[in-house]
Amino acid sequence: VTDPIRVGLVGYGFMGVAHSHAWRTAPRMLPTALNPALTAICGRSGGVEAVARQQGWHSVERSWEALIERDDIDLVDICSPGDTHAEIAIRALDAGKHVLCEKPLANTLEEAEAMVEAATRAHRRGVRSMVGFNYRRVPALIVARRLVGDDTLGRLRHVRVQYLQDWGEDPDLPLVWRFQRERAGSGALGDLGAHVLDLAEHLTGQSIKALTALTHTFINRRPAPVIGGCHHTAERLVDVDDAAQVIGFFDEDVTFSLEVSRFATGHKNALRIEINGSRGSVCFDLERLNELLFYDHSEPGWRAGYRTILVTERDHPYIVHWWPPGHTLGYEHTFVHQAADFLTAIARGAPAEPSFADGLRVQRLLAAAEASAAEPSTISVT
Ligand SMILES: NC(=O)c1ccc[n+]([C@@H]2O[C@H](COP(=O)([O-])OP(=O)(O)OC[C@H]3O[C@@H](n4cnc5c(N)ncnc54)[C@H](O)[C@@H]3O)[C@@H](O)[C@H]2O)c1
Repeated sequence: VTDPIRVGLVGYGFMGVAHSHAWRTAPRMLPTALNPALTAICGRSGGVEAVARQQGWHSVERSWEALIERDDIDLVDICSPGDTHAEIAIRALDAGKHVLCEKPLANTLEEAEAMVEAATRAHRRGVRSMVGFNYRRVPALIVARRLVGDDTLGRLRHVRVQYLQDWGEDPDLPLVWRFQRERAGSGALGDLGAHVLDLAEHLTGQSIKALTALTHTFINRRPAPVIGGCHHTAERLVDVDDAAQVIGFFDEDVTFSLEVSRFATGHKNALRIEINGSRGSVCFDLERLNELLFYDHSEPGWRAGYRTILVTERDHPYIVHWWPPGHTLGYEHTFVHQAADFLTAIARGAPAEPSFADGLRVQRLLAAAEASAAEPSTISVT
């Protein structure tokens, strides 16, 4: 493994900037074993130049193919929409580059399967891959997982997950890629649901065995996006869901429910998880990401209740590398942890998690939910 490890990043939007920050910060704050060099950022339009300058990238490429062909790139970080993930990841892995790929892993089950095959081939040659389920690295959620794993919560009964945003409510919002099936795969389901489906299984260590789902689109037509400065007046069809609900069962007699929406006014980025067990419960909301609520069911009833663990102590995960207790972490830290852990896995020659196989597992759940929603079996109530 070369040090520094030379990173090439595809996409310069929201995630492109979040990941740029993470590559810069990880080696300065966490023990990464390898130093990332911000070698090249790739974008198809002129805007990439300014982002490259601001974020500290040494060079710019205008196509991901050219980026992968470069000998001075060791790791490809995919921060472009879902329809690009499979092709870029497979080409990069086959070229011997380590790959960090944003979620959802792909737009279809077939693409995700091909990506896992490429990752398996590459792994044998010492090439690592990881999918960007960054919320696995929120310290409070790692504590939640520990409380399930060490049986503090007892026998699990319910796993309840939500991921609620409200930006979709604006009818003037143009038909950006997130509203297009061929680019995004699905709507809120794949975008937001992928995160919480992954967390539901990761936190419990159990698999969802059966599910049924409903999806809904509230605004069916949106203004065409502005391309190259040209405004098109025509409206375009939204062919993805705006919201989805899933209910199901885990392996061991545990019920599951999920709700995701881009129309939940008042909720900006409310990734919420509650796990109820026979001995207690945990409750988390990303909008208060340093806190984990914990309920101990063995407490005498008159003084029992949820209490708040402020997950900023030095013996909480990752915190020792940051600030003193109470000096809270934020959204961006999840990406810094992700970058640091990927670098460590590469340096040690160890498998990186979440793996592409974990991404494929989520894709199976998404496909099952879509299949169920396509044949709704609702019963009319008169
Ligand atoms: N982990 C998270 O919490 C999180 C949050 C947001 C988005 N995402 C994921 O990150 C990915 C990107 O989302 P975003 O919000 O950054 O989108 P964005 O629209 O802000 O940026 C996408 C970028 O990809 C570029 N791009 C598109 N097609 C390309 C191509 N063929 N070649 C090169 N560049 C191309 C665009 O020019 C743009 O720079 C998606 O997979 C999304 O689901 C993850």
